[in-house]
Amino acid sequence: MPGQATGYHDHADSNVALTALQGSVLERRLRAGQASVEQRLRPGILRKGPAGYIHSVAHGGGEPAVTLHAYSPPLVEVGQYRAGPGDELLRQRQHGRRELLDHTIGEARAARKFQQL
Ligand SMILES: [Fe+2]
Repeated sequence: MPGQATGYHDHADSNVALTALQGSVLERRLRAGQASVEQRLRPGILRKGPAGYIHSVAHGGGEPAVTLHAYSPPLVEVGQYRAGPGDELLRQRQHGRRELLDHTIGEARAARKFQQL
């Protein structure tokens, strides 16, 4: 939905394929020593990512988006990333069913609100 986003996370040992079935989303991928890269996914555009890569997904504007995510092997763990007290990047293990946590969505909203100040 407009305004919704995941926090940065990885899919542990699972490879992932994702696409938008309706609307669009923005995927951001963290890269070592470089700025993150952003890609807009719309219907017909397929993204594949290797196990362990770190990304976030946000609504891309316009109509509500519907996305499809497929994992192999099945998703049993995700790593959720947060800034630590000294801005260190901290990874928290979570069950795979918690890829889209309500609080990470809330944190993404708060981060965008903070950036707008
Ligand atoms: Fe993901």
